[in-house]
Amino acid sequence: MQFEIWTKGLAELSVDCLAVGVPDDGELTPEAKVLDLRCREKLSRLVKRGDFTAKVGETWLLTDLDGIHAERVLLVGIGPKADVTRKSWRRSVAAAISAATRTRIASLALALPRPTAKLLSDERLGRAVAELTGHVLYRVNDLKSGKKPRAHSLSKVIVVANAKAEASTTRGFAQGSALASGAALMRNLANLPGNVCTPSYLAKTAQDLAKSYKSLRVKVLGLPEIKREKMGCFLAVTQGSEEPPRFLVIEHRHSKAKGAPTVLVGKGITFDTGGISLKDPPTMDEMKFDMSGAACVIGTMKAVAELNMPLNVIGVVAACENMPDGRAIKPGDIVTSSAGLTVEILNTDAEGRLILCDALHYVRRFKPDVVVDMATLTGAIVVALGTHHTGVFANNDELAREIVDCGASVDDRAWHMPLTEEYGEQLKSNFADMANVAGRDGGSITAAAFLAKFTKDLNWAHLDIAGTAYQGGAGKGSTGRPSAMLFEFLLRRASSR
Ligand code: BES
Ligand code: MN
Ligand code: ZN
Repeated sequence: MQFEIWTKGLAELSVDCLAVGVPDDGELTPEAKVLDLRCREKLSRLVKRGDFTAKVGETWLLTDLDGIHAERVLLVGIGPKADVTRKSWRRSVAAAISAATRTRIASLALALPRPTAKLLSDERLGRAVAELTGHVLYRVNDLKSGKKPRAHSLSKVIVVANAKAEASTTRGFAQGSALASGAALMRNLANLPGNVCTPSYLAKTAQDLAKSYKSLRVKVLGLPEIKREKMGCFLAVTQGSEEPPRFLVIEHRHSKAKGAPTVLVGKGITFDTGGISLKDPPTMDEMKFDMSGAACVIGTMKAVAELNMPLNVIGVVAACENMPDGRAIKPGDIVTSSAGLTVEILNTDAEGRLILCDALHYVRRFKPDVVVDMATLTGAIVVALGTHHTGVFANNDELAREIVDCGASVDDRAWHMPLTEEYGEQLKSNFADMANVAGRDGGSITAAAFLAKFTKDLNWAHLDIAGTAYQGGAGKGSTGRPSAMLFEFLLRRASSR
């Protein structure tokens, strides 16, 4: 996909389609007025007639208007004129792209009123256009046989803007394209079924990435190496599965980047049955998404490499299945983590924290500047926050606030959750250093408190993405979240050092 910026007259723009915003409360926008005069007020007559209500996201396609170079004009509803928010703007951009994909349009120009620069800088606008294009164009890697739906023709998106904005918007396009390619990889991986997307498949994907990007180095640990690292908790989870585990280390090094690395850690349970503490059948299929954290780490590493971000970033993934079996762990089993702490596994379905505690201990060797783990860790976070906010936990409030702010600025929102000592005390066990569960109340927080016992004196945050990483129901599938938030977090770190 190509992205360009157009800084000259609208009527002279030769494209397959020119998308222009139309408010639902009276007067045309200045852009629409320019076109309206050229085509002898066809647009205003159409709007007055009331067929097109111009609600946010509604579209109306017109062809062959006299006096206008563009072959087609797409009217895009923007709602009340004085009230273009980032949210409404994103919806109209997405609607315009989506409408174009249902036609033969190859080049689409966007002349939509933007939110104020305070709400959306030129750079972020460029990034959002490229990100949204990737998001709308994404098609699930479906395994349906038979005739495929017609492919779209879109190959170029042009943003109509002020000449002053050219450099920063273009920078945003590059960021957004990189982000979109990473998010698409995340979604592809997460959408694949558990019998295809195994731990080995994730490892292969990471190794293939390292072949495509010079900045990436990938190391894959198999069972013998994982044993050598004494990752007793990770080993406990994988022991009931026929599918071999994989532990991935993906490094992006940039010659100009100084300082300790930023480390990302992802939960990669390629299928979570719950183990002996077996889950209920309804929606168990969705537990193929239990590697969304890992998919986000791998996708983000791709995005970082694609942009060649001037920052040292290390992505770590612990991947295995959680299965019931004659050899599977049983409630009450006690195992020793690589950190040396013993854990009584009261519930085999609380497996995410078990694989993560060993991964979080492993990353100490990198002397990281910051560690952010992401995991579909608890159903409790969905009860607490629903599907709109990612839960953010940290042993450093400033870091949590930074992440929340990153999410807010790119519309991939997160919420700071509490993480004080009391929650950790609830994990007491009569037999081991700690239990892996602490009852139902505050379940997402006690899960985070478990991880916190392994991240003392690291600058660490944990993202519980169980509510945000994928959708159930009719639109079942990976959302690509929290790629955008994470990418913003990394961009800010890259520019501040
Ligand atoms: N992968 C699940 C969490 C999950 C649940 C993600 C629902 C998405 C939707 C995790 O491994 C799990 O099973 N957690 C348990 C923890 C409990 C046993 C303390 C849960 O949330 O029920
Ligand atoms: Mn589980
Ligand atoms: Zn799980």
